[in-house]
Amino acid sequence: MVESTENNLKPPPLRIGELTIDRPTVLAPMAGLTDLPFRLLCARHGCGLVMTEVVNAQGVLRASSQTMCYLEACAQERPVGAQLYGSDPQVMAEAAARIEALGRFDLIDINCGCPVPKIVNKGAGVALMKQPGIIAEMIRLIRAAVDLPVTAKTRIGLSPDEVNISEVAHAIEEGGAQMLAIHARLAAVKHSGPADWDLMALIKSQRQIPIVGNGGIECAADAGAMRAATGVDGVMIGRAAVGNPWIFEEIIAMWEGRSFKPVSLEDRRRMIEEHLLNLIAHFEKKSEYHKRRRYGSEQSACRHFRTHLIKYLKGHPGIGKLIKHLEDIHSAGDVMVAVDDVLWPKSCSEQLASGA
Ligand SMILES: Cc1cc2nc3c(=O)[nH]c(=O)nc-3n(C[C@H](O)[C@H](O)[C@H](O)COP(=O)(O)O)c2cc1C
Repeated sequence: MVESTENNLKPPPLRIGELTIDRPTVLAPMAGLTDLPFRLLCARHGCGLVMTEVVNAQGVLRASSQTMCYLEACAQERPVGAQLYGSDPQVMAEAAARIEALGRFDLIDINCGCPVPKIVNKGAGVALMKQPGIIAEMIRLIRAAVDLPVTAKTRIGLSPDEVNISEVAHAIEEGGAQMLAIHARLAAVKHSGPADWDLMALIKSQRQIPIVGNGGIECAADAGAMRAATGVDGVMIGRAAVGNPWIFEEIIAMWEGRSFKPVSLEDRRRMIEEHLLNLIAHFEKKSEYHKRRRYGSEQSACRHFRTHLIKYLKGHPGIGKLIKHLEDIHSAGDVMVAVDDVLWPKSCSEQLASGA
């Protein structure tokens, strides 16, 4: 259990326009990971706000099947934000209005931080940081086009020579964004290396809108440490939630001075099974979107689940063997046999059965 100190007392609710998030923890948008089944689990385990994978504004306007699939959402996960990328303010505003019309989302988030070449080469994602004026204009047009709150997520800069988060945060606030999430790393390092919490603290001190801190949270205690070091209004967690949706409950327990019971092997198994079955059901639905697919829904879901599976079982001795045999896993049954082998290795269960 993490000790409750002044540093990790529960923060006040996060207010994003009309939206109030009682527990200011946010699941970071992660392409390929934060689909509906995973978001639902995080929401159920205490996450205050979940975010979709990033979607392309042009794809929204074309109602492309892949994009609409990313925009599947449901009432039980709310509040949920839809993250949008693009470079043209007018197109972004039209796409935001279409997303609002779906009636499933609680906010629209603008991606100003993605370093993936496919996005950056189109002048979107972190490339927008080179043009703070365009970001402000984009947010203004989106605010005019929708009633939902509008937020932005960005980085501290592109490279060591281009650390312009102060200027970008100013533009984001001027444009009318109602919350800013800062991933406190440079685009140049992608997701590795230490996050710059000092700079995060500086931006928090300069801006009036709520600031959510992201980067460098690996466990519940880190969420308290980030708040203590920076004063941010909320914490955003990405990779540390993969394989550990319980992290949100643990943070709340820490903030409320309660103990957090370690997750049992049985609970872990139940979570893995539920996550996988929900993912298969999600892929069944996706098959309406993807007519030409190489694998059936169950096999596609099992393949897609690999990253989660490895993270759920991280630290268990049998994980290396499981990783070697991932290609042989084609069904939910195969996955659960492999999981049982890792959680309850044969030698161990045989010893128990023989009373040794
Ligand atoms: C696999 C993966 C996919 C990501 N996809 C997105 C995305 O779609 N939109 C976005 O704003 N950030 C994306 N990110 C960045 C995360 O939202 C987050 O900023 C980053 O992982 C740092 O937070 P963490 O240290 O808690 O993981 C992605 C990160 C990863 C690892």
